[in-house]
Amino acid sequence: MAINIETHYHDVLVIGAGLAGTMAALKVAEIGDVAVLTKVFPTRSHSTTAQGGMAAALNNNKAQGEDSWELHMFDTVKGSDYLGDQDAIETLAKDAIEVVYELEHMGTPFSRTADGKIAQRPFGGHSRPRIAYSADRTGHVALHTLYEQSLKEKVKYYPEFFVTKLIMENNTAKGVVAVELRTGTVHVFTSKAVMIATGGGGRIYRISSNAHESTGDALSMLYREGLPLMDMEFTQFHPTGIYPLGILITEGVRGEGGYLVNSKGERFMEKYAPDMKDLAPRDITSRAIYTEIQEGRGVGPKKDHVLLQIHHIGREKILERLPEIYKFAITYAGVDCTKEPIPVAPTAHYFMGGIPTDSHSNVIKDDKATPVIGLYAGGEAACESVHGANRLGANSLVDTTVFGRRAGKHMYDFVQQADRPTVPKDASESTIKMVEWLLSGKGKENVSKLREDMQSLLWETAAVFREEKLLKKGLKDIKVLQERYKNIGITDTGKNFNMQLKDAIELGNMLEYAEVVLASADFRKESRGAHSRTDYPKRDDVKFLKHTLASKGKDGRPELKQKDVSITRYQPQERKY
Ligand code: FUM
Repeated sequence: MAINIETHYHDVLVIGAGLAGTMAALKVAEIGDVAVLTKVFPTRSHSTTAQGGMAAALNNNKAQGEDSWELHMFDTVKGSDYLGDQDAIETLAKDAIEVVYELEHMGTPFSRTADGKIAQRPFGGHSRPRIAYSADRTGHVALHTLYEQSLKEKVKYYPEFFVTKLIMENNTAKGVVAVELRTGTVHVFTSKAVMIATGGGGRIYRISSNAHESTGDALSMLYREGLPLMDMEFTQFHPTGIYPLGILITEGVRGEGGYLVNSKGERFMEKYAPDMKDLAPRDITSRAIYTEIQEGRGVGPKKDHVLLQIHHIGREKILERLPEIYKFAITYAGVDCTKEPIPVAPTAHYFMGGIPTDSHSNVIKDDKATPVIGLYAGGEAACESVHGANRLGANSLVDTTVFGRRAGKHMYDFVQQADRPTVPKDASESTIKMVEWLLSGKGKENVSKLREDMQSLLWETAAVFREEKLLKKGLKDIKVLQERYKNIGITDTGKNFNMQLKDAIELGNMLEYAEVVLASADFRKESRGAHSRTDYPKRDDVKFLKHTLASKGKDGRPELKQKDVSITRYQPQERKY
Protein backbone atom coordinates (compact mmCIF):
# COMPACT_ATOMS: atom_id res chain seq x y z
CA MET A 1 0.00 0.00 0.00
CA ALA A 2 1.50 3.35 -1.04
CA ILE A 3 2.24 5.72 1.82
CA ASN A 4 1.38 9.41 1.29
CA ILE A 5 3.99 12.00 2.17
CA GLU A 6 3.44 15.66 3.09
CA THR A 7 6.00 18.35 3.91
CA HIS A 8 5.82 21.39 6.23
CA TYR A 9 7.97 24.22 7.52
CA HIS A 10 7.79 25.95 10.93
CA ASP A 11 10.46 28.04 12.65
CA VAL A 12 10.12 25.99 15.82
CA LEU A 13 8.82 22.47 16.41
CA VAL A 14 7.93 21.32 19.89
CA ILE A 15 7.43 17.58 20.23
CA GLY A 16 5.05 16.87 23.11
CA ALA A 17 2.22 18.95 24.57
CA GLY A 18 2.69 18.50 28.31
CA LEU A 19 3.70 21.33 30.62
CA ALA A 20 7.30 21.64 29.36
CA GLY A 21 6.36 21.69 25.69
CA THR A 22 3.39 24.01 26.07
CA MET A 23 5.32 26.44 28.25
CA ALA A 24 8.16 26.52 25.70
CA ALA A 25 5.74 27.00 22.80
CA LEU A 26 4.10 29.93 24.58
CA LYS A 27 7.43 31.65 25.18
CA VAL A 28 8.41 31.42 21.53
CA ALA A 29 4.90 32.03 20.14
CA GLU A 30 5.46 35.75 19.62
CA ILE A 31 7.72 34.92 16.68
CA GLY A 32 4.60 33.62 15.04
CA ASP A 33 5.53 30.23 13.73
CA VAL A 34 5.67 27.53 16.36
CA ALA A 35 4.05 24.12 15.97
CA VAL A 36 3.47 21.42 18.57
CA LEU A 37 3.37 17.78 17.46
CA THR A 38 1.83 15.41 19.96
CA LYS A 39 1.07 11.69 20.02
CA VAL A 40 -2.16 12.27 21.99
CA PHE A 41 -4.67 15.12 22.18
CA PRO A 42 -2.73 17.96 23.93
CA THR A 43 -4.62 18.01 27.21
CA ARG A 44 -4.30 14.24 27.51
CA SER A 45 -0.53 14.59 27.87
CA HIS A 46 0.81 12.89 30.98
CA SER A 47 1.35 16.19 32.87
CA THR A 48 -2.41 16.25 33.32
CA THR A 49 -2.16 13.37 35.79
CA ALA A 50 0.20 15.20 38.18
CA GLN A 51 -1.64 15.48 41.46
CA GLY A 52 0.10 16.86 44.52
CA GLY A 53 1.60 20.17 43.43
CA MET A 54 4.67 22.19 42.55
CA ALA A 55 7.48 23.18 44.90
CA ALA A 56 8.44 26.85 45.20
CA ALA A 57 9.68 28.87 48.18
CA LEU A 58 6.77 31.35 48.12
CA ASN A 59 7.00 31.55 51.89
CA ASN A 60 3.24 31.60 52.38
CA ASN A 61 3.42 29.36 55.44
CA LYS A 62 5.76 31.34 57.70
CA ALA A 63 4.19 29.91 60.87
CA GLN A 64 6.02 26.67 60.05
CA GLY A 65 9.40 28.35 59.45
CA GLU A 66 10.73 30.91 56.98
CA ASP A 67 11.38 29.49 53.54
CA SER A 68 13.89 30.59 50.88
CA TRP A 69 15.16 29.44 47.50
CA GLU A 70 18.41 28.45 49.24
CA LEU A 71 16.54 26.00 51.49
CA HIS A 72 14.66 24.63 48.48
CA MET A 73 18.00 24.24 46.70
CA PHE A 74 19.62 22.47 49.65
CA ASP A 75 16.69 20.08 50.11
CA THR A 76 16.83 19.22 46.40
CA VAL A 77 20.61 18.65 46.42
CA LYS A 78 20.32 16.42 49.49
CA GLY A 79 17.28 14.64 48.02
CA SER A 80 19.27 13.98 44.83
CA ASP A 81 21.88 12.13 46.94
CA TYR A 82 24.31 14.84 45.77
CA LEU A 83 24.17 13.74 42.13
CA GLY A 84 22.08 16.70 40.97
CA ASP A 85 23.99 19.48 39.19
CA GLN A 86 23.97 22.31 41.71
CA ASP A 87 24.06 25.17 39.19
CA ALA A 88 20.92 23.76 37.54
CA ILE A 89 19.26 23.21 40.94
CA GLU A 90 19.97 26.81 41.91
CA THR A 91 18.19 27.93 38.72
CA LEU A 92 15.28 25.62 39.50
CA ALA A 93 14.83 26.89 43.06
CA LYS A 94 15.08 30.58 42.06
CA ASP A 95 12.92 30.42 38.92
CA ALA A 96 10.28 28.22 40.60
CA ILE A 97 8.94 31.23 42.50
CA GLU A 98 8.51 33.34 39.34
CA VAL A 99 6.99 30.47 37.40
CA VAL A 100 4.32 29.72 39.99
CA TYR A 101 3.25 33.37 39.99
CA GLU A 102 3.33 33.43 36.21
CA LEU A 103 1.01 30.42 36.11
CA GLU A 104 -1.23 32.10 38.67
CA HIS A 105 -1.41 35.24 36.53
CA MET A 106 -2.26 33.17 33.47
CA GLY A 107 -5.26 31.84 35.38
CA THR A 108 -4.22 28.62 37.14
CA PRO A 109 -6.71 28.14 40.00
CA PHE A 110 -4.37 27.32 42.90
CA SER A 111 -5.88 26.38 46.27
CA ARG A 112 -5.80 29.33 48.72
CA THR A 113 -5.02 30.12 52.35
CA ALA A 114 -7.68 31.81 54.49
CA ASP A 115 -6.12 35.20 53.65
CA GLY A 116 -6.14 34.55 49.89
CA LYS A 117 -2.52 33.56 49.24
CA ILE A 118 -1.49 30.45 47.30
CA ALA A 119 -1.78 27.60 49.81
CA GLN A 120 1.30 25.40 50.38
CA ARG A 121 1.39 21.87 51.77
CA PRO A 122 4.27 19.67 53.04
CA PHE A 123 5.80 16.99 50.77
CA GLY A 124 8.51 14.35 51.10
CA GLY A 125 12.07 15.57 51.63
CA HIS A 126 11.11 19.27 51.69
CA SER A 127 12.04 20.88 55.01
CA ARG A 128 9.25 23.49 54.65
CA PRO A 129 5.63 23.24 53.50
CA ARG A 130 6.36 24.72 50.07
CA ILE A 131 4.10 22.84 47.67
CA ALA A 132 1.63 25.06 45.78
CA TYR A 133 -1.34 22.96 44.74
CA SER A 134 -4.80 22.86 43.34
CA ALA A 135 -6.49 20.22 45.50
CA ASP A 136 -5.11 16.99 43.97
CA ARG A 137 -5.32 17.95 40.30
CA THR A 138 -2.48 20.45 39.98
CA GLY A 139 -1.07 19.16 36.69
CA HIS A 140 -4.53 19.08 35.15
CA VAL A 141 -5.35 22.71 35.91
CA ALA A 142 -1.88 23.99 35.03
CA LEU A 143 -1.90 22.18 31.68
CA HIS A 144 -5.38 23.41 30.77
CA THR A 145 -4.31 26.96 31.63
CA LEU A 146 -1.20 26.79 29.46
CA TYR A 147 -3.08 25.12 26.61
CA GLU A 148 -5.73 27.86 26.60
CA GLN A 149 -3.01 30.52 26.59
CA SER A 150 -1.24 28.79 23.72
CA LEU A 151 -4.43 28.75 21.64
CA LYS A 152 -4.80 32.47 22.31
CA GLU A 153 -1.23 32.95 21.05
CA LYS A 154 -2.04 30.96 17.88
CA VAL A 155 0.33 28.06 18.53
CA LYS A 156 -0.34 25.48 15.83
CA TYR A 157 -1.09 21.93 17.01
CA TYR A 158 -0.65 18.65 15.15
CA PRO A 159 -2.48 16.22 17.46
CA GLU A 160 -2.01 12.46 17.14
CA PHE A 161 1.22 12.80 15.20
CA PHE A 162 3.74 10.16 16.26
CA VAL A 163 7.28 11.51 15.71
CA THR A 164 9.60 8.75 14.53
CA LYS A 165 12.79 10.49 13.45
CA LEU A 166 14.92 13.49 14.32
CA ILE A 167 16.48 14.97 11.20
CA MET A 168 20.01 15.90 12.16
CA GLU A 169 23.09 16.74 10.06
CA ASN A 170 26.45 18.20 11.07
CA ASN A 171 25.49 18.43 14.72
CA THR A 172 22.43 20.50 13.80
CA ALA A 173 18.74 19.63 14.25
CA LYS A 174 16.76 20.36 11.07
CA GLY A 175 13.32 18.91 11.72
CA VAL A 176 11.48 15.67 12.33
CA VAL A 177 9.51 12.96 10.55
CA ALA A 178 6.13 11.89 11.93
CA VAL A 179 3.35 9.43 11.20
CA GLU A 180 -0.14 10.94 11.36
CA LEU A 181 -2.14 8.34 13.26
CA ARG A 182 -5.49 9.43 11.78
CA THR A 183 -4.46 8.81 8.16
CA GLY A 184 -1.15 6.93 8.14
CA THR A 185 0.42 9.78 6.13
CA VAL A 186 4.13 10.38 6.73
CA HIS A 187 4.97 14.06 7.32
CA VAL A 188 8.39 15.67 6.97
CA PHE A 189 8.76 18.83 9.06
CA THR A 190 11.65 21.22 8.53
CA SER A 191 12.47 23.76 11.26
CA LYS A 192 15.23 25.93 12.68
CA ALA A 193 14.77 24.52 16.19
CA VAL A 194 13.32 21.31 17.61
CA MET A 195 12.37 20.80 21.23
CA ILE A 196 11.81 17.34 22.68
CA ALA A 197 9.21 17.32 25.47
CA THR A 198 7.75 13.84 25.17
CA GLY A 199 7.83 12.83 28.84
CA GLY A 200 9.28 9.74 30.46
CA GLY A 201 9.33 6.06 29.73
CA GLY A 202 7.90 4.42 32.85
CA ARG A 203 5.81 1.99 30.80
CA ILE A 204 8.75 -0.37 30.44
CA TYR A 205 7.74 -1.53 33.94
CA ARG A 206 4.87 -3.88 34.72
CA ILE A 207 3.57 -1.71 37.55
CA SER A 208 3.62 1.98 36.74
CA SER A 209 1.77 5.18 37.54
CA ASN A 210 2.50 6.37 34.00
CA ALA A 211 0.01 6.82 31.19
CA HIS A 212 0.04 4.02 28.62
CA GLU A 213 1.52 6.59 26.22
CA SER A 214 4.64 7.11 28.38
CA THR A 215 6.82 5.00 26.15
CA GLY A 216 9.95 7.17 25.98
CA ASP A 217 9.82 7.37 22.17
CA ALA A 218 12.14 10.37 21.86
CA LEU A 219 14.75 8.79 24.14
CA SER A 220 15.27 6.02 21.60
CA MET A 221 14.92 8.41 18.68
CA LEU A 222 17.87 10.52 19.85
CA TYR A 223 19.86 7.50 20.98
CA ARG A 224 19.57 6.09 17.45
CA GLU A 225 21.01 9.38 16.12
CA GLY A 226 24.14 8.79 18.22
CA LEU A 227 23.22 11.14 21.09
CA PRO A 228 23.76 10.00 24.67
CA LEU A 229 21.20 9.35 27.42
CA MET A 230 22.20 10.34 30.94
CA ASP A 231 21.62 8.66 34.33
CA MET A 232 19.10 6.18 32.97
CA GLU A 233 19.67 3.84 35.93
CA PHE A 234 17.67 6.15 38.17
CA THR A 235 14.02 5.14 37.99
CA GLN A 236 11.87 6.60 40.73
CA PHE A 237 9.39 4.24 42.40
CA HIS A 238 6.61 6.24 44.00
CA PRO A 239 5.81 4.64 47.36
CA THR A 240 2.05 4.84 47.03
CA GLY A 241 0.55 3.31 43.92
CA ILE A 242 -2.91 1.81 44.43
CA TYR A 243 -2.39 -1.90 44.96
CA PRO A 244 -2.20 -3.83 42.65
CA LEU A 245 -2.58 -1.49 39.65
CA GLY A 246 0.04 1.13 40.51
CA ILE A 247 -2.15 4.17 39.79
CA LEU A 248 -0.79 7.18 41.67
CA ILE A 249 -2.02 8.09 45.15
CA THR A 250 -0.46 11.48 45.68
CA GLU A 251 2.16 12.18 48.32
CA GLY A 252 -0.27 15.00 49.14
CA VAL A 253 -2.16 12.37 51.18
CA ARG A 254 0.81 12.16 53.53
CA GLY A 255 1.32 15.92 53.17
CA GLU A 256 -2.18 16.36 54.60
CA GLY A 257 -1.43 14.07 57.56
CA GLY A 258 -1.82 10.53 56.16
CA TYR A 259 0.57 7.76 57.17
CA LEU A 260 1.64 4.24 56.24
CA VAL A 261 0.95 1.20 58.40
CA ASN A 262 1.99 -2.46 58.20
CA SER A 263 0.04 -5.63 59.05
CA LYS A 264 0.71 -5.09 62.75
CA GLY A 265 -0.84 -1.64 62.58
CA GLU A 266 2.59 -0.04 63.12
CA ARG A 267 3.56 3.34 61.66
CA PHE A 268 6.76 1.82 60.34
CA MET A 269 8.28 4.96 58.75
CA GLU A 270 9.31 6.10 62.25
CA LYS A 271 11.99 3.39 62.11
CA TYR A 272 13.41 4.38 58.73
CA ALA A 273 13.25 8.18 58.94
CA PRO A 274 12.89 9.24 62.59
CA ASP A 275 12.60 12.97 61.81
CA MET A 276 10.58 13.14 58.59
CA LYS A 277 8.77 9.82 59.01
CA ASP A 278 6.08 9.50 56.31
CA LEU A 279 7.43 12.57 54.60
CA ALA A 280 10.84 11.05 53.91
CA PRO A 281 11.96 11.18 50.25
CA ARG A 282 10.52 8.58 47.90
CA ASP A 283 13.61 6.37 47.56
CA ILE A 284 13.74 5.84 51.32
CA THR A 285 9.98 5.32 51.67
CA SER A 286 9.76 2.80 48.82
CA ARG A 287 12.65 0.79 50.25
CA ALA A 288 11.00 0.90 53.68
CA ILE A 289 7.77 -0.53 52.26
CA TYR A 290 9.64 -3.37 50.54
CA THR A 291 11.64 -4.10 53.67
CA GLU A 292 8.40 -4.39 55.66
CA ILE A 293 7.03 -6.75 53.00
CA GLN A 294 10.21 -8.85 52.82
CA GLU A 295 10.25 -9.19 56.61
CA GLY A 296 6.69 -10.52 56.62
CA ARG A 297 4.78 -7.42 57.73
CA GLY A 298 2.95 -6.80 54.45
CA VAL A 299 -0.85 -6.96 54.36
CA GLY A 300 -3.33 -9.00 52.31
CA PRO A 301 -3.38 -12.71 51.43
CA LYS A 302 0.00 -12.41 49.70
CA LYS A 303 1.40 -9.98 52.33
CA ASP A 304 2.68 -7.90 49.41
CA HIS A 305 1.50 -4.36 50.14
CA VAL A 306 0.89 -1.93 53.00
CA LEU A 307 -1.87 0.49 53.99
CA LEU A 308 -2.14 4.25 53.67
CA GLN A 309 -4.39 5.74 56.31
CA ILE A 310 -5.99 9.16 55.94
CA HIS A 311 -9.49 8.86 57.45
CA HIS A 312 -8.34 10.36 60.78
CA ILE A 313 -8.12 13.84 59.17
CA GLY A 314 -11.89 13.83 58.58
CA ARG A 315 -14.21 13.52 55.61
CA GLU A 316 -14.62 17.26 55.03
CA LYS A 317 -10.88 17.92 54.68
CA ILE A 318 -10.41 14.82 52.50
CA LEU A 319 -13.16 15.92 50.11
CA GLU A 320 -11.81 19.48 49.95
CA ARG A 321 -8.08 18.69 49.53
CA LEU A 322 -8.09 15.22 47.98
CA PRO A 323 -11.31 14.84 45.97
CA GLU A 324 -9.73 12.81 43.14
CA ILE A 325 -7.99 10.45 45.55
CA TYR A 326 -11.32 9.85 47.26
CA LYS A 327 -12.79 8.81 43.89
CA PHE A 328 -9.74 6.79 42.76
CA ALA A 329 -9.75 4.76 45.97
CA ILE A 330 -13.41 3.86 45.47
CA THR A 331 -13.02 3.10 41.75
CA TYR A 332 -9.76 1.17 41.76
CA ALA A 333 -9.58 -0.35 45.26
CA GLY A 334 -13.22 -0.40 46.34
CA VAL A 335 -12.24 1.56 49.43
CA ASP A 336 -13.92 4.62 50.99
CA CYS A 337 -10.81 6.41 52.29
CA THR A 338 -12.86 8.61 54.59
CA LYS A 339 -13.50 5.42 56.59
CA GLU A 340 -10.72 2.90 55.85
CA PRO A 341 -7.11 2.78 54.62
CA ILE A 342 -6.03 2.47 50.98
CA PRO A 343 -3.91 -0.57 49.93
CA VAL A 344 -0.67 0.70 48.37
CA ALA A 345 2.72 -0.48 47.06
CA PRO A 346 5.58 1.17 45.13
CA THR A 347 4.98 1.90 41.45
CA ALA A 348 7.39 2.99 38.68
CA HIS A 349 6.78 6.71 38.48
CA TYR A 350 9.53 8.86 36.99
CA PHE A 351 12.83 8.78 35.12
CA MET A 352 15.41 11.02 36.78
CA GLY A 353 17.60 10.41 33.73
CA GLY A 354 17.01 11.33 30.12
CA ILE A 355 18.40 13.53 27.36
CA PRO A 356 21.25 15.62 28.79
CA THR A 357 20.75 19.38 28.53
CA ASP A 358 22.45 22.59 29.66
CA SER A 359 20.91 25.48 31.58
CA HIS A 360 19.11 26.76 28.45
CA SER A 361 17.64 23.29 27.88
CA ASN A 362 19.95 22.94 24.86
CA VAL A 363 20.73 19.25 24.29
CA ILE A 364 24.37 18.34 24.85
CA LYS A 365 26.10 15.54 23.04
CA ASP A 366 29.07 14.53 25.20
CA ASP A 367 30.89 14.68 28.52
CA LYS A 368 32.32 18.11 27.54
CA ALA A 369 28.75 19.51 27.35
CA THR A 370 29.02 20.35 23.63
CA PRO A 371 25.58 21.62 22.53
CA VAL A 372 23.68 20.26 19.53
CA ILE A 373 22.70 23.28 17.44
CA GLY A 374 18.97 23.94 17.42
CA LEU A 375 18.05 20.95 19.60
CA TYR A 376 16.35 21.43 22.98
CA ALA A 377 14.72 19.14 25.55
CA GLY A 378 12.60 19.67 28.64
CA GLY A 379 10.38 17.95 31.17
CA GLU A 380 10.81 14.30 32.08
CA ALA A 381 12.45 13.47 28.74
CA ALA A 382 15.35 15.77 29.69
CA CYS A 383 18.08 15.52 32.32
CA GLU A 384 19.46 18.97 33.30
CA SER A 385 20.18 17.32 35.95
CA VAL A 386 18.11 18.80 38.77
CA HIS A 387 16.95 15.52 40.32
CA GLY A 388 20.20 13.57 40.38
CA ALA A 389 19.66 10.12 41.89
CA ASN A 390 16.28 10.84 43.46
CA ARG A 391 13.70 13.52 42.66
CA LEU A 392 11.81 15.21 45.47
CA GLY A 393 8.05 15.14 44.99
CA ALA A 394 6.61 18.31 43.41
CA ASN A 395 9.94 19.21 41.84
CA SER A 396 8.80 17.81 38.53
CA LEU A 397 6.09 20.33 37.71
CA VAL A 398 8.54 23.14 38.43
CA ASP A 399 11.22 21.41 36.38
CA THR A 400 8.84 21.19 33.40
CA THR A 401 7.78 24.82 33.59
CA VAL A 402 11.11 26.38 34.63
CA PHE A 403 13.16 24.62 31.96
CA GLY A 404 10.34 24.71 29.39
CA ARG A 405 10.33 28.47 29.83
CA ARG A 406 14.11 28.67 29.50
CA ALA A 407 14.01 26.56 26.34
CA GLY A 408 11.32 28.82 24.87
CA LYS A 409 13.29 31.97 25.63
CA HIS A 410 16.49 30.55 24.18
CA MET A 411 14.76 29.30 21.03
CA TYR A 412 13.18 32.72 20.65
CA ASP A 413 16.64 34.31 20.34
CA PHE A 414 18.14 31.39 18.41
CA VAL A 415 15.62 31.24 15.56
CA GLN A 416 15.92 34.95 14.86
CA GLN A 417 19.55 34.55 13.82
CA ALA A 418 19.42 31.01 12.38
CA ASP A 419 19.00 30.30 8.66
CA ARG A 420 16.16 28.17 7.38
CA PRO A 421 17.70 24.71 6.87
CA THR A 422 17.10 22.23 4.07
CA VAL A 423 16.53 18.61 4.93
CA PRO A 424 17.95 15.66 2.99
CA LYS A 425 15.65 14.32 0.26
CA ASP A 426 15.60 10.87 1.82
CA ALA A 427 14.64 12.12 5.31
CA SER A 428 11.41 10.10 5.37
CA GLU A 429 12.96 6.88 4.06
CA SER A 430 13.68 5.13 7.36
CA THR A 431 10.17 5.87 8.67
CA ILE A 432 8.52 4.61 5.49
CA LYS A 433 10.63 1.44 5.56
CA MET A 434 9.75 0.84 9.20
CA VAL A 435 6.01 1.37 8.63
CA GLU A 436 6.04 -0.88 5.54
CA TRP A 437 7.99 -3.54 7.41
CA LEU A 438 5.58 -3.49 10.36
CA LEU A 439 2.46 -3.47 8.18
CA SER A 440 3.70 -6.40 6.15
CA GLY A 441 4.86 -8.29 9.27
CA LYS A 442 3.39 -11.77 9.34
CA GLY A 443 5.62 -12.98 12.17
CA LYS A 444 4.27 -14.98 15.09
CA GLU A 445 5.23 -12.50 17.81
CA ASN A 446 2.31 -10.59 19.29
CA VAL A 447 2.92 -6.94 20.31
CA SER A 448 0.94 -7.10 23.57
CA LYS A 449 2.56 -10.34 24.69
CA LEU A 450 6.05 -9.06 23.93
CA ARG A 451 5.32 -5.80 25.73
CA GLU A 452 4.11 -7.71 28.80
CA ASP A 453 7.23 -9.90 28.78
CA MET A 454 9.43 -6.78 28.64
CA GLN A 455 7.49 -5.12 31.48
CA SER A 456 7.82 -8.22 33.67
CA LEU A 457 11.52 -8.49 32.88
CA LEU A 458 12.20 -4.89 33.94
CA TRP A 459 10.06 -5.28 37.06
CA GLU A 460 11.90 -8.44 38.05
CA THR A 461 15.44 -7.27 37.28
CA ALA A 462 15.65 -3.47 37.70
CA ALA A 463 13.08 -2.29 40.24
CA VAL A 464 13.55 -0.95 43.80
CA PHE A 465 16.37 -3.32 44.81
CA ARG A 466 18.96 -4.38 42.22
CA GLU A 467 21.92 -6.78 42.08
CA GLU A 468 24.43 -7.92 39.51
CA LYS A 469 22.96 -11.36 38.91
CA LEU A 470 19.52 -9.96 38.11
CA LEU A 471 20.83 -7.07 36.02
CA LYS A 472 22.96 -9.43 33.92
CA LYS A 473 19.92 -11.63 33.43
CA GLY A 474 17.94 -8.55 32.40
CA LEU A 475 20.62 -7.61 29.86
CA LYS A 476 20.70 -11.12 28.41
CA ASP A 477 16.92 -11.44 28.22
CA ILE A 478 16.30 -7.99 26.74
CA LYS A 479 18.41 -9.05 23.75
CA VAL A 480 16.18 -12.09 23.34
CA LEU A 481 13.14 -9.81 23.37
CA GLN A 482 14.80 -7.52 20.80
CA GLU A 483 15.34 -10.57 18.56
CA ARG A 484 11.72 -11.64 19.02
CA TYR A 485 10.64 -8.13 17.96
CA LYS A 486 12.16 -8.83 14.53
CA ASN A 487 9.49 -11.47 14.11
CA ILE A 488 6.54 -9.24 15.00
CA GLY A 489 3.17 -9.76 13.34
CA ILE A 490 0.29 -7.31 13.24
CA THR A 491 -3.14 -8.10 11.85
CA ASP A 492 -4.45 -4.57 11.15
CA THR A 493 -2.87 -3.36 7.91
CA GLY A 494 -5.10 -0.31 7.50
CA LYS A 495 -3.98 3.31 7.43
CA ASN A 496 -6.54 5.00 9.66
CA PHE A 497 -5.94 5.04 13.40
CA ASN A 498 -3.93 1.86 13.21
CA MET A 499 -3.34 1.34 16.94
CA GLN A 500 -1.49 -1.93 16.37
CA LEU A 501 1.03 -0.05 14.28
CA LYS A 502 1.37 2.62 16.98
CA ASP A 503 1.83 -0.03 19.70
CA ALA A 504 4.46 -1.81 17.60
CA ILE A 505 6.49 1.39 17.04
CA GLU A 506 6.30 2.17 20.76
CA LEU A 507 7.44 -1.33 21.64
CA GLY A 508 10.49 -1.03 19.37
CA ASN A 509 11.40 2.20 21.16
CA MET A 510 10.89 0.74 24.63
CA LEU A 511 13.02 -2.32 23.91
CA GLU A 512 15.84 -0.01 22.90
CA TYR A 513 16.00 2.28 25.95
CA ALA A 514 15.09 -0.54 28.39
CA GLU A 515 18.50 -1.97 27.51
CA VAL A 516 20.08 1.38 28.41
CA VAL A 517 18.31 1.35 31.81
CA LEU A 518 19.67 -2.13 32.53
CA ALA A 519 23.18 -1.43 31.26
CA SER A 520 23.45 1.83 33.22
CA ALA A 521 22.17 0.11 36.38
CA ASP A 522 24.74 -2.65 35.95
CA PHE A 523 27.52 -0.07 35.39
CA ARG A 524 26.81 1.87 38.61
CA LYS A 525 28.29 -0.35 41.28
CA GLU A 526 27.10 1.58 44.32
CA SER A 527 23.82 2.55 46.00
CA ARG A 528 22.72 6.14 45.54
CA GLY A 529 19.21 7.59 45.73
CA ALA A 530 16.73 5.42 43.90
CA HIS A 531 19.45 3.07 42.61
CA SER A 532 19.76 0.59 45.44
CA ARG A 533 22.16 -2.31 44.88
CA THR A 534 22.05 -5.10 47.46
CA ASP A 535 25.54 -6.17 46.31
CA TYR A 536 26.98 -2.63 46.67
CA PRO A 537 24.92 -1.21 49.55
CA LYS A 538 27.06 1.92 50.11
CA ARG A 539 27.38 5.16 48.19
CA ASP A 540 30.83 5.40 46.59
CA ASP A 541 31.70 9.05 45.96
CA VAL A 542 35.23 8.21 44.83
CA LYS A 543 34.13 6.16 41.84
CA PHE A 544 30.54 7.21 41.25
CA LEU A 545 29.95 10.84 42.15
CA LYS A 546 29.52 11.12 38.39
CA HIS A 547 26.74 11.06 35.84
CA THR A 548 26.44 8.06 33.53
CA LEU A 549 26.33 8.73 29.79
CA ALA A 550 25.12 5.89 27.56
CA SER A 551 25.57 6.04 23.77
CA LYS A 552 24.77 3.46 21.14
CA GLY A 553 28.02 1.66 20.29
CA LYS A 554 29.07 0.30 16.90
CA ASP A 555 27.82 -3.15 17.93
CA GLY A 556 24.41 -1.62 18.71
CA ARG A 557 24.91 -2.03 22.47
CA PRO A 558 25.12 0.80 25.06
CA GLU A 559 28.60 2.24 25.60
CA LEU A 560 28.98 3.85 29.01
CA LYS A 561 31.04 6.81 30.16
CA GLN A 562 31.01 9.20 33.08
CA LYS A 563 30.49 12.95 33.25
CA ASP A 564 31.35 15.30 36.11
CA VAL A 565 28.71 16.53 38.55
CA SER A 566 28.53 20.27 39.10
CA ILE A 567 29.10 20.99 42.81
CA THR A 568 28.88 24.71 43.57
CA ARG A 569 27.68 25.10 47.17
CA TYR A 570 27.10 21.87 49.09
CA GLN A 571 29.69 19.13 49.58
CA PRO A 572 28.26 15.58 49.74
CA GLN A 573 27.22 14.41 53.20
CA GLU A 574 25.41 11.39 54.55
CA ARG A 575 21.65 11.77 54.00
CA LYS A 576 19.68 11.58 57.24
CA TYR A 577 15.95 12.26 57.58
O1 FUM B 1 2.65 12.37 44.71
C1 FUM B 1 2.43 13.17 43.81
O2 FUM B 1 1.49 13.96 43.80
C2 FUM B 1 3.38 13.22 42.70
C3 FUM B 1 4.03 14.32 42.49
C4 FUM B 1 5.29 14.29 41.76
O3 FUM B 1 5.66 13.24 41.23
O4 FUM B 1 5.96 15.32 41.74
